[in-house]
Parts: sequence; structure tokens; C-alpha cells
Amino acid sequence: MKKDRITTITKAAETIKTDLLVYFAVEEKDKMPVCDAAVQPQVKKAYELNDFSGKAAEQILFYPPDRSKISAARVLVLGTGPVNKEKDKGDALDMLREAGGQVAKVSASVKAKDVVLCLPTPKHLSPALADPEVSAGALAEGVILGDYRFEKYKESTKKKTDYPGLGAIKFVCNDNLKIIRQGIEKAKNSAFAACTARDMANEPGNHWTSADFAAYAKQLAADTGLGYRCLEKKEMEQMGMGGILAVNQGSYVPARMVVLEYLPEDRTETILLVGKGLTFDSGGISIKPSAGMEDMKYDMCGGAAVMCAMQAVALEKPDVGVVAIVPATDNMSGSKAIHPGDIITHYNGVTSEVINTDAEGRLLLADALAWGIENFKPTCVLDTATLTGAVIIGLGHHYTGLVSNNDALVKAVEAAGNLAGEPVWRLPLNKNYEKQIESKVADIKNTGGKPAGTITAAAYLSNFVGKTPWAHLDIAGTAWDFTKKVYIPKGASGIATRTFINLVRNWKTDKVK
Ligand code: BES
Ligand code: MN
Ligand code: ZN
Repeated sequence: MKKDRITTITKAAETIKTDLLVYFAVEEKDKMPVCDAAVQPQVKKAYELNDFSGKAAEQILFYPPDRSKISAARVLVLGTGPVNKEKDKGDALDMLREAGGQVAKVSASVKAKDVVLCLPTPKHLSPALADPEVSAGALAEGVILGDYRFEKYKESTKKKTDYPGLGAIKFVCNDNLKIIRQGIEKAKNSAFAACTARDMANEPGNHWTSADFAAYAKQLAADTGLGYRCLEKKEMEQMGMGGILAVNQGSYVPARMVVLEYLPEDRTETILLVGKGLTFDSGGISIKPSAGMEDMKYDMCGGAAVMCAMQAVALEKPDVGVVAIVPATDNMSGSKAIHPGDIITHYNGVTSEVINTDAEGRLLLADALAWGIENFKPTCVLDTATLTGAVIIGLGHHYTGLVSNNDALVKAVEAAGNLAGEPVWRLPLNKNYEKQIESKVADIKNTGGKPAGTITAAAYLSNFVGKTPWAHLDIAGTAWDFTKKVYIPKGASGIATRTFINLVRNWKTDKVK
């Protein structure tokens, strides 16, 4: 769907000609669901027949006869569930996001191109959602995220689905036009950013390399005015970035450190985002088993998240500065590849014994964190990476693992994730875990054994952030196969993109000290 095809319309909904006109019905305990007067007769009948009570994803689909007052070809009444209860704001928002996702799903099943949505009346929503800007935004996000598809490599028309996705969405808006438009604008920025992150991730290893990260960033900078920089292999050699270069040794595609900068002159603070851009992880000499190895094309989802968050930052121009760094390479084996036992020296001089070449993500993040902090002197730094299989054992596919040295930053990340429907769960970090990565021959080693693999990976990174407030998000369990929801497709989820956008939007000076 094209961004400019999502608009508002000020007109009586019944009079609008469209493929599908959507109303929402909010579930009320032991009562008829609350809905627009225009569809009350149908909803009342369905409710009395026990067919419909406004539960999430419940539907009434009907076809107005020719001489009906309604001009639409089809009308959908969609249950949202009980959004009017004392719901947590994040949960309530996610119900609306899921309702939006359902709209995309029904549109696909009836092949509707043009869809018109009537927003649920704010007074029926939870106090947490009384703001129509916010509720319209959540719905719009859900529709856009739910309409996502990745079919560019399906060449034969037979295999291609004959429905290319939504053509246009209009939100009926007879009051509060200005703020609803604002909500929809923001939703477009965040949802399309997440869709772009999904696109990058769904590209296979042969079509998405460090060069593609660089080209994408360069184009984004040219289009938006962001600053762009790319450290090429030669420069990284001169700078002593021994981690990313070690991982890159087995590859024929040179590594790159791709940087996007949003640094307004009157900023008082800067947020640094670092994302693992590992475009294919074979494990290197410590090679992975072949079953499922194809999924390691997704090992760049952290890089995609930070880069695509910059897309929204560039459009929304916040007060706070934001910089994204993507250390990008693949991890291959071959005669030039690093060996287990090799000792490398990171950008900040810390030496590391590479016990397992498959624990490569921390090696590139280490250089990116140390250099980024030295160069940009950020107020805080957040990194995100598909870093450990252990996080999937611990949290499954439902929470992103979070490790941090700063409680205030944890609160901010938790809040941003909750509002995005992307929950995080904090894990501890202390000396006991740091001990696990002590090496006999170097300052540290790159694995700490099986126990607490997610935390020892974070312990490794902690050697490169100094005292800077830092939060590490391990998205190995959530970047793909994320919690099953109607607006989350199979494959790449785009996780963390919208969390970072929310974090930037809600940033207050002096949030972390
Ligand atoms: N990219 C993987 C982590 C991963 C595993 C992501 C499964 C998604 C699904 C990472 O580079 C890796 O291989 N980590 C190792 C570390 C170990 C060797 C210490 C792991 O988790 O097994
Ligand atoms: Mn690996
Ligand atoms: Zn990896």
C-alpha cells in the first residue's frame, strides 16, 4: 500500500461508495456491544441470536441491498473486545491494533481494494484511549502492519496471490479532524518503518549484504536530510576495529559500519542506537547445523530496526538527537576465517579470545558501541540484536530480553515497548555473570558456556559502554516468529523499530542521568 493512499474523509459514512465500509463494536459485559447508530439494527439482531457480542475478531459482514441508505458494496462490523474496561493503555492499544489487522485480513478475503473505516466513538473506549489521536493511530498501525506482504520473488503469476493488498484506506472523520490526522500521520511513520524493516529482513543473504545496508542508508539520507557515513573496511582497519573485521575475515563481501545521523543544532541530548547487521550467520568455523540455517538471513533484524527507526525520526524531527549505527557483515567459514582460539583486539583496546566463531554478534557490536560512544558522546545507548538462542529458551517468542545498567532507561524502554505491543523483560547482570567470560589468555572470551547465555552475551557488551546509560535488547526470539497476532506476519516482525520510535517520541530531557 502506498503511504499517500491513507487519508481522512469528512462525510456521512453511509453515503461513501467503497468496496468495504467498516464499523467497530466494543464489547460490553452482558450488554449489547456499543457501536455506531448506522449498524445498530444489524448488531442488535446478531446479539439477540447470540451470534455476536463484540468480542475481539468477531465479525458481521453484510451486503446492503440496492436501495439501501448505505452506498458501500459491503459492510463489516468488527468486534474489538472490551476496550472500555480499566485496561492497561498498552493492552488497549494492542486490541485496536489487532482490530486494524483484522480489517486487513477481511479485506484480503473479499479482495477489497478501497476500504473506509469509521472510528469507534472515543467515549466508549477506556480512559487510556480517550484520546482519538491515539486510538486512530493504533487502528491505522494495525491496518498497515496487517496489510504487509513480501511477494517480490514470486515470479509466476500462478504462485502470486491475485490480491496485491489494500489500495486505499480512508478514515471517516467528522470531529477532531486535526488530531486524528496527526495520529494517523504518526501511525504511518511508525508502521511503514516497521514494514521496511520486515522487507530488509525478508531479503535473503544473497540479496541483502553490507552493501545494501549502506546503499539504503545513503538513499534515505539523500531523501530526508539525515547525515550519512559509512566506514569502509580500510578505515576500520586503520581504526583498529578488530571485532567486526574478525567476523568478516571469511567473507568476500567487505564489512561496513553504516551510520545515520539526526543531530539538530539545538539538541541537548543524543540517543545512540546500534543494531546487529549480520546479513547471514553460518556460524563460521564453529559452523551451525544445516537444519534451519536458512533462518540466519534474519540475523540482521537489529540493524534493520535501528535503520528504519531513523526513517520516522527524519520525518518527525524530534528535539533530541538520534544516531543509528549498523555494523554489517556476514559470518562465513573458509581459509581466511577466524579460528576458535584466535585472540582479537577491539576498538577500545580490550582483547578477546574467540572460543566460538558463532558468538559473532557481540564482536561487531563491541566495536560499534565503543566507537559510537566515543564519537557521538550520547546521553544513552541502546543496542538491539538477534544475539542468542538462549533468549528463546528463557522467554520464548513473546518477550524481547532486556539487559541494562540504568533503571530509568529500563523504565523508558519498557514503556515504549508496551505502547508498541512489543514487550520487553529485564534480565539481571552482575559480577557473577561477568566472571563467566573471564579468559586465561585475554581480557575476556566470547562465550560464557551454556548457563545464562543471554546475560553473558550482555556481560561481553558491557565492556564497551563504560558508564554510559545502556540498554541491550536481545530480539532473537521476537524478530521472527513473534507472538501470533493478526497484524504480525510469519517471518520477520519488524520488532524494535516501533519501540525505538516511541522511545524517541516520548523522550524527556534528563530522563536518564
Ligand atoms: N545469530 C545467533 C543467535 C540466534 C540463534 C538467533 C537462534 C536466532 C535464533 C548468534 O550469532 C549465535 O549463533 N549465538 C550463539 C552463541 C553461542 C555460540 C555462545 C547461540 O546462541 O547459540
Ligand atoms: Mn552466530
Ligand atoms: Zn548471529
